[in-house]
Amino acid sequence: MNVTEETGGHPVALVAGASSGIGAAVARRLAARGSAVALVGRREAELKEVAESIRAAGGTALPLPLDLAEPGAPAEAVAATAAGLGPVGLLVCSAGAIRLAAIHETEERHWERQLRINLTVPFLLAREVLPGMRERRYGWVVNIGSGVGSEVVPGSGGYGVSKHAVHRLTELVHEENRDLGIRAVTVAPGWVSTRLAARPSDLGVPEEEVLDAEDIADTVAWLLDRPARMSVGPLVRVEPSASRAAAGDAMTRHLTRSRDRGAGPTQNAGTEPAAKETP
Ligand SMILES: NC(=O)c1ccc[n+]([C@@H]2O[C@H](COP(=O)([O-])OP(=O)(O)OC[C@H]3O[C@@H](n4cnc5c(N)ncnc54)[C@H](OP(=O)(O)O)[C@@H]3O)[C@@H](O)[C@H]2O)c1
Repeated sequence: MNVTEETGGHPVALVAGASSGIGAAVARRLAARGSAVALVGRREAELKEVAESIRAAGGTALPLPLDLAEPGAPAEAVAATAAGLGPVGLLVCSAGAIRLAAIHETEERHWERQLRINLTVPFLLAREVLPGMRERRYGWVVNIGSGVGSEVVPGSGGYGVSKHAVHRLTELVHEENRDLGIRAVTVAPGWVSTRLAARPSDLGVPEEEVLDAEDIADTVAWLLDRPARMSVGPLVRVEPSASRAAAGDAMTRHLTRSRDRGAGPTQNAGTEPAAKETP
């Protein structure tokens, strides 16, 4: 019996960064498809809200309030999921930190923070779940990358570097495990309307031209529905159709606008979360 048989055909899922935005939308979608879902993030109230919405729709959710940047927290998340729901068969890493600045203006602590959340946390989570997946010969590792991880966008700084690296991490996971029933894919979105991103209206872009978190949840669900013989990726880019909403372009305009408004280089992510990520 493999893990999907044990769980009625749907793998137990762990979603890192499930308290809002893309992670919350993906978690809801996975639960609607039948997975029991562990929800990881720092904001307990938001996690509980997501869990409640999943339960109200008849699903199973386990909120796990944890700061994944803390030593041991990724292992704790995986162990708590296994104890509460069963072994992780589907890992989605959507936790993210952003602090935009040119390299010569990037503070070391911001660099380290982004590398920690956007790269080291996905590595530690993958390292934790892969042995069990390899043993059970089944698993999915889905990392949320970024369009600016594939394009060289001046000012994308430690964020762009960490996303570029997480794309490679996913490729390695894919190549090392593809003959063991494990699929790994990076879903790399362009501009998605969440609290992490610039507001479309600030850049003169109509809201409807920017992606929605549900678009990314749709993409993940579509990938999961592919037959076992089929692997799409390991990098799947999802961009708005309109060129003025394309990730690289929009980020460049956003940085220029922040500079024009006199924001310091490390305060100019223009997004509340960027400020909150600052240790
Ligand atoms: N929005 C976009 O335009 C866009 C484009 C490309 C890629 N992405 C990527 O998409 C992913 C999700 O971002 P989003 O746009 O959905 O924004 P979001 O709503 O701010 O989601 C970020 C998530 O990361 C979690 N997180 C951050 N630091 C954490 C930590 N130390 N420990 C645990 N969880 C942590 C946050 O939860 P807590 O605050 O509760 O800890 C939150 O759930 C990120 O990886 C981001 O880089 C976004």
